[in-house]
Amino acid sequence: ALFPLAARPLVDVRVLLTAGPTREPLDPVRFLGNRSSGRMGFALADALEALGARVTLITGPTSLPGPRVTERVDVETALEMHGAVMSRATEYDIFVATAAVADYRSAAPAENKIKKNADELTLRLVRNPDILAEVAALPLPPFTVGFAAETDRVEEYARDKLNRKGLNMIAANHVGGAQGGFERAENALTVIWHDGQRELPMMDKTRLARELAALIAERYQEHHA
Ligand code: CTP
Ligand code: CA
Repeated sequence: ALFPLAARPLVDVRVLLTAGPTREPLDPVRFLGNRSSGRMGFALADALEALGARVTLITGPTSLPGPRVTERVDVETALEMHGAVMSRATEYDIFVATAAVADYRSAAPAENKIKKNADELTLRLVRNPDILAEVAALPLPPFTVGFAAETDRVEEYARDKLNRKGLNMIAANHVGGAQGGFERAENALTVIWHDGQRELPMMDKTRLARELAALIAERYQEHHA
């Protein structure tokens, strides 16, 4: 190739990436989950590895094959994902949080299967740690990239998350409608950083992941220039 460095801008760059949903057990046979397929995260992990990065994927349960990454760690709960990420985070140059981490878990998962005795059942939930915010708050944080799935006021909420969590970049998408996001093959993203923004229009998630990976590489290099 004529421009091998330009084609593989992330050679030797270590990327830690979360993907998929988490499952929060209610009892031995039931869990709280969400509609994340892991597709966007897997495609992004693949695209970053293709740009030369050494990607460690930390993923919740998905039914997807692959992707081709340097290392893969399977987890189930938000607390497991939190542990897997925090024990490794300082060893990485870039952290990308695509996982749909459950915001809450059961305060006390039942040891035995919950029986349907009463007419009403109240679950008490407690908040899970915010993995992305904790990584961004490390003394020497990696370049951090978050996602924001919103049903409304997409740009406003995303910019607020960028600032509040102290991120370098955030990729915002509109979910819950017919136009992409969870459980769809296509998606569109608004990518926001402190002094810029780029629209990645509706396209196939594999192509979208390649465009986003290239943009992450570009912003990461700019950040280190
Ligand atoms: N995230 C995380 N750990 C959590 C919750 C979220 O790492 N416990 C990450 C997600 O992977 C995503 C980003 O934070 O990159 C934003 O997730 P989102 O659910 O959109 O935002 P929240 O901060 O959880 O706020 P809310 O759900 O109230 O909109
Ligand atoms: Ca959330």
